Amino acid sequence: TKIAVFVSGGGTNLQALIDAQKSGILQSGEIALVLASNHKAYALTRAAENNIPSVVVVRKEFDSQLAYEEKVKEVLKEYGIELIVLAGFMSILSENFTSAFPKRIINIHPSLIPSFCGKGYYGLKVHEAALAYGVKVTGATVHYVNEIPDGGEILMQKAVEVKDGDTPEVLQRRVMEEAEWILLPRATEQVSKELQKGR
Ligand code: GRF
Repeated sequence: TKIAVFVSGGGTNLQALIDAQKSGILQSGEIALVLASNHKAYALTRAAENNIPSVVVVRKEFDSQLAYEEKVKEVLKEYGIELIVLAGFMSILSENFTSAFPKRIINIHPSLIPSFCGKGYYGLKVHEAALAYGVKVTGATVHYVNEIPDGGEILMQKAVEVKDGDTPEVLQRRVMEEAEWILLPRATEQVSKELQKGR
């Protein structure tokens, strides 16, 4: 299964996928493309270091959301992509896009959905909300992507303990290390394998 990983930032989840390919955890899928929403994403450096082709498609360079999404679809077609993995991806994908790839887009969200998810809950804000609420357990979720932000069917979840004195940054790091980087490769392997059989 040919995979495109969509990125916007540091790419630590991309790195986890790259490492999983090397360790054999991810063997039913091949990362064939990294698509970044901006030119500065360090994830692009990680792609280059691992000889993975990358393309940058910047939303604000397009007149409309539709034109932007058509360009992304065109790039995916060019690379023969069968599965899209959103890994810290911050651009909007509307129903026009998600409906073209039913059960072929997955996303990692840094909370136990349905807590702390949906519009406005991304990056550090998710952990600030968890700490503000005073939850003792948080975690990460891999889910299918549909037109509802963080609304698609849940694939996998992993719980992470919140510790006294946690700052949002410390909690984010623990959720990444103990949940995101564990879940995303395994969920990607599971879906890649299913798509490979279905082909
Ligand atoms: C982090 O907030 C992570 O929790 C979420 O996306 C952000 C950056 O991830 N999944 P990455 O390091 O770019 O993969």
